[in-house]
Amino acid sequence: MPRISNALIRHARSIDKLLPPLLRPCRELRAAQNELRWLREHAAKVASTRNAKVRDTLLRNLVLERAKGKPLQYLLGSEYFGDLQITCRPGVLIPRQETAASVAYLARLVRQAEELPPELRVLDLCTGTGCIPLLFHDELAATRKDVRSRYLGIDISRDAVHLAHYNLQKVWRQKAYADKSVTAFVQADVLIDPFDDQNAGMPCFKAALNHYRQPPFWDILISNPPYISPSGYWSTTTRSVRLFEPELALLPPPNPDASDTERGDVFYPRLLSIAQHVEAKVVLLEVADLDQAHRVARLAQDADFFDGIEVWRDWPDQPNDAEPVELDGFPVIGQGNGRYVLCWRAQGAPWLGKDVVAKAETEPLSHYSLQPTFIYRPPSKIPL
Ligand SMILES: C[S@@+](CC[C@H](N)C(=O)[O-])C[C@H]1O[C@@H](n2cnc3c(N)ncnc32)[C@H](O)[C@@H]1O
Repeated sequence: MPRISNALIRHARSIDKLLPPLLRPCRELRAAQNELRWLREHAAKVASTRNAKVRDTLLRNLVLERAKGKPLQYLLGSEYFGDLQITCRPGVLIPRQETAASVAYLARLVRQAEELPPELRVLDLCTGTGCIPLLFHDELAATRKDVRSRYLGIDISRDAVHLAHYNLQKVWRQKAYADKSVTAFVQADVLIDPFDDQNAGMPCFKAALNHYRQPPFWDILISNPPYISPSGYWSTTTRSVRLFEPELALLPPPNPDASDTERGDVFYPRLLSIAQHVEAKVVLLEVADLDQAHRVARLAQDADFFDGIEVWRDWPDQPNDAEPVELDGFPVIGQGNGRYVLCWRAQGAPWLGKDVVAKAETEPLSHYSLQPTFIYRPPSKIPL
């Protein structure tokens, strides 16, 4: 990383003495100026009922924390995800723009479908702040007042589930949606076998899927799981991410028997098997890059359950102007890095504007009867 020149530091100080510390995380004067403006606005808002001295102290502390690399979203307390302002707190991953782009794109495809089920059921595994179901609903509700949707977000982290509930309440208050959609967030470990009734200390996944006390069938399954391999963690993440964002959200659990690549991929076989059990018609799985996308697409193909599979780059709505345009026969669409694998079955093809080509035969999963054994109830008042 190039060093910041003394001339730039002097120039920054001549504009505002709080700018030089922000050059370290921002690297450029214009970015540092933007951040200082946002931090100043935030300090003024937080200290609105206090005096100017309190506000200035708060601002100085925010600048010092930012200089140490703490992400701006944790300092300001929010990040935009599509049109939604999602509250962010340390301990829960900050939502990324690439995730928002693919989720919004999927919702826009689905909302153009001529026919959708009267209740569209969307399952989000590893939900974090709850940003994915909240954005999907926001996009769907924008034009499809005829469709009721039901969402379930599941995460292993209690802090994430609390925050997702908080975001749900905030977004519904701000947006004042008129539709009768329902959203719930439940704590569970998705790596636990869904046929296991119990596991120590954690609400079981089987019961979580049964949260609505209805057959646990889901039309769309979306997941942005932890997918970074141990070597990728050191080579592809920034120091700020490693110091301040939760490892639980980024790195799959340790496994001495797995290679580096296998550890990064550990969630995908489980997610694909869940997709099969809940009879998902459309599945969207986030990945780190084209290599992982290729491996996940092959896993999905081997599951012999889907009728179509394609790879999405970061910006799937943009024309693909880079090689490859296909990977082993899987079309690659959009611009940027490999980011998602989309799989669909014949029933879901019209929701995506795809031709219906049924390749896979599916067995009805009559043995999959889930009894409610635990339902997570969030505290009635969620602390800010
Ligand atoms: C990459 S983050 C994604 C968060 C959110 N969906 C987003 O896109 O911003 C992965 C999430 O998976 C959760 N997680 C990690 N291991 C899990 C497990 N075994 N079962 C369920 N959730 C898990 C983490 O707590 C974290 O919130």
